[in-house]
Amino acid sequence: VSDGYHITEAGEIVDSDVAIVGLGYVGMSLARAACGAGLRVAGLEISAVTVASLRAGRSHVDDVSDADVRVMLAAGFSPDTDPDVLATARTVVICVPTPLHGDGSPDLGPLRAASQALASRLRPGTLVVVESTSYPGTTESVVRPILEADSGLVGGRDFGLAFSPERIDPGNRRYGLAGTPKVVGGHTPGCTAAAAAFYRQFVDVVVQAKGTREAELAKIIENTYRNVNIALVNEFARLAHDLGIDVWDALNCAATKPFGYQVFYPGPGPGGHCIPIDPTYFTYQVRSHGRISRLVELALEINSAMPTYVVDRAVRLLNQQKKAANGSTVLLLGVTYKANISDQRGAACWEVARQLRALGGSVAYHDPYVSSWELDGTAVPRETELGYATRSADLTILLQDHSIYDPSDLAASARLLLDTCGRTRGLAGDTVEVL
Ligand SMILES: NC(=O)c1ccc[n+]([C@@H]2O[C@H](COP(=O)([O-])OP(=O)(O)OC[C@H]3O[C@@H](n4cnc5c(N)ncnc54)[C@H](O)[C@@H]3O)[C@@H](O)[C@H]2O)c1
Repeated sequence: VSDGYHITEAGEIVDSDVAIVGLGYVGMSLARAACGAGLRVAGLEISAVTVASLRAGRSHVDDVSDADVRVMLAAGFSPDTDPDVLATARTVVICVPTPLHGDGSPDLGPLRAASQALASRLRPGTLVVVESTSYPGTTESVVRPILEADSGLVGGRDFGLAFSPERIDPGNRRYGLAGTPKVVGGHTPGCTAAAAAFYRQFVDVVVQAKGTREAELAKIIENTYRNVNIALVNEFARLAHDLGIDVWDALNCAATKPFGYQVFYPGPGPGGHCIPIDPTYFTYQVRSHGRISRLVELALEINSAMPTYVVDRAVRLLNQQKKAANGSTVLLLGVTYKANISDQRGAACWEVARQLRALGGSVAYHDPYVSSWELDGTAVPRETELGYATRSADLTILLQDHSIYDPSDLAASARLLLDTCGRTRGLAGDTVEVL
């Protein structure tokens, strides 16, 4: 069978057009888009709980609704924990996590495991695409050797291999998967063309990179650009505060320049996977080649110090009211890494709450998107009555500007308010401080 991007051995059964490995934020968005394009989609997921939930029509990620999952299931979407689903797929896309080890080094364990699960089942003609973000060279030097060793096949000759960075932006209603250009870089030009043909089935614009490493670096550049610019405005915020200058007003003035400038805003420190972790993958790789990216490392350092800075400002604010952090009740508003979503991964709230607890503060939170929150084995009490909670707490810290938070209400009701999102600019006074 030949359809232009895939050649199977005659007589082999193809059960799915695409098998997606890792049904998280990235994998589920891809699965929905592929189902929508009429492809038969299989999913391999190690979490049996996730598979059971998906089979029952329940979504576990923000951007994909339960109704979406039911439509996908009706279209033939088949989530599974059995790696054999990989043996009968025309294309396999790997979307497993790429976290950090405890010591800060890249943890490619899930990517290696996914590659190993595929390798022994890999058939000639299959196209393999890696979407998990990693340092340049991962597809060539980590994934390809595993696939080739266990299968006895050669990448670029017997099977296609490419990297395509995911640009998913949870909660973004303007740019979804179809409307965001997709970069693909193959092990060979033929692999690039095969991957481009695959994605063109459900993405409007596909951009072909020179190779896998260029596509991998493109993703790192995008996220490092954000990390460095966020660090820059965070540094401006700290210095402007010391100098008695309103950094938010200055930033908004700067943003009126119609060319050569893109506005970024300060905050308690970027969370999620992409912005704090991807640059770390890059600095690790650069260091392993005996080089140092000073700017990128400095940006990571500045941003990772922001939760401590927030706690420092909180302590000073309490001190102005002759209160100590020890024994004070502190309410955290918004404990996710982005506004209006439920994802808490890497959010500043973890470190802020940890440090406030260590100072003897009694920490509670309010967040319409997070029904329970456990920190270091102890539940953080959840407040559901916002007005009552802000009036009762000694200090309220706005960490995430979910749109339900009204700046005037917060400024009026909170005994003391530290706003890390710039929402209460213009309302600042003795009891309201903006980062
Ligand atoms: N979430 C985003 O906004 C985003 C954006 C761009 C890129 N990425 C990148 O995409 C990759 C995936 O991110 P995510 O947010 O979807 O992660 P996620 O944690 O939401 O989902 C990953 C899923 O893979 C599963 N998994 C882990 N190991 C597996 C294995 N060996 N076999 C099968 N399933 C396995 C996990 O159980 C989980 O359900 C990461 O490299 C991330 O950096 C994420």
